[in-house]
Amino acid sequence: MMGNNAVAQTGAEVSRPRIWAIGGGKGGVGKSFISSSMGQALAKAGKRVVVVDLDLGGANLHTSLGIRGTEFTLSDYLNGKVTDINRVAGVTDIDRLRLISGASDTLNIANIKYFQKAKLLRNLAHLDTDYVILDLGAGTSFNTLDFFIHADHGLVSVTPDPGSVENTYRFLKCVFIRQLRAVPEQTREMIQQVLMHRRKGGRKAGSLADFLEDITRQKPSVAASIRQELDTLKLHIIVNQVMEPEDTELGRSIQMVCSRYFGTKIGYLGFLHHDRMVLKSLQQRRPFLSTFPQSRLAIHIDTLVASLMAQDDD
Ligand SMILES: Nc1ncnc2c1ncn2[C@@H]1O[C@H](COP(=O)(O)OP(=O)(O)OP(=O)(O)O)[C@@H](O)[C@H]1O
Ligand SMILES: [Mg+2]
Repeated sequence: MMGNNAVAQTGAEVSRPRIWAIGGGKGGVGKSFISSSMGQALAKAGKRVVVVDLDLGGANLHTSLGIRGTEFTLSDYLNGKVTDINRVAGVTDIDRLRLISGASDTLNIANIKYFQKAKLLRNLAHLDTDYVILDLGAGTSFNTLDFFIHADHGLVSVTPDPGSVENTYRFLKCVFIRQLRAVPEQTREMIQQVLMHRRKGGRKAGSLADFLEDITRQKPSVAASIRQELDTLKLHIIVNQVMEPEDTELGRSIQMVCSRYFGTKIGYLGFLHHDRMVLKSLQQRRPFLSTFPQSRLAIHIDTLVASLMAQDDD
């Protein structure tokens, strides 16, 4: 994940937008709801925001925001029809909040070409805004993982159902492994050697934490560079659609499992209740947060956003 400020060619520091990505392996866990609601909360707090619908193929962020679409879509940018990324960010009915829509896009995120992904990743920083929120699709395609890893903060939405929890671990494992592609060639070779050694010893691949311990014993410097790479990820769990008091404990238990199996720390941003008015607001094509600003859910979303903004300002 990147530092807070980009240095312009003049040598002067120019601020670039903070990028938050919302991911998670499973479909229907609230990624789009959280992206659009966090976008609204930031806009309400006086920030300029662009939310980007990267769920190409299944894009529906515009619906969560209560609009039918925008003049241009992400495809127009990826295909070169529109060259300035700022032009594809269309206005919404909410002040300071713009949307890069994937509506009616025929592209699929897993199939966009390398140069298209690279162009988008590079130019997100050129969006004239304070915050960029990336709403990712379900699944663990390399492209989805790369957008997630690129963000300053990676938020993982999980619901209390066992399938979602299982998918969360799968997603996180894929994120960690993908992140390690950035380690130097030599380090990767050493990782291969340790893996081969483990296999020869008749051991299973085991947990990432076990593996890191092995590497630490055999090649401390390699272990340090792997840890450094993993530590640049700023990951946070959000437990969504909470219905029972005990559901709120899921965040802490995922944190513990991550530290045991992946040997890495992951933040727990907080939980959001299930609120049946979310569906009502969708049916009425009105954004939830501005329609029910005093609801417990809306207040919790404001709180999560304030807490993450405070981490950015540290
Ligand atoms: N806290 C909540 N309370 C009530 N309904 C919610 C809540 N969060 C999400 N929903 C609803 O659950 C459904 C799934 O949410 P959403 O579309 O945001 O999930 P998603 O993770 O983006 O799914 P996909 O992977 O298919 O894109 C939507 O109808 C959404 O409005
Ligand atoms: Mg979605």
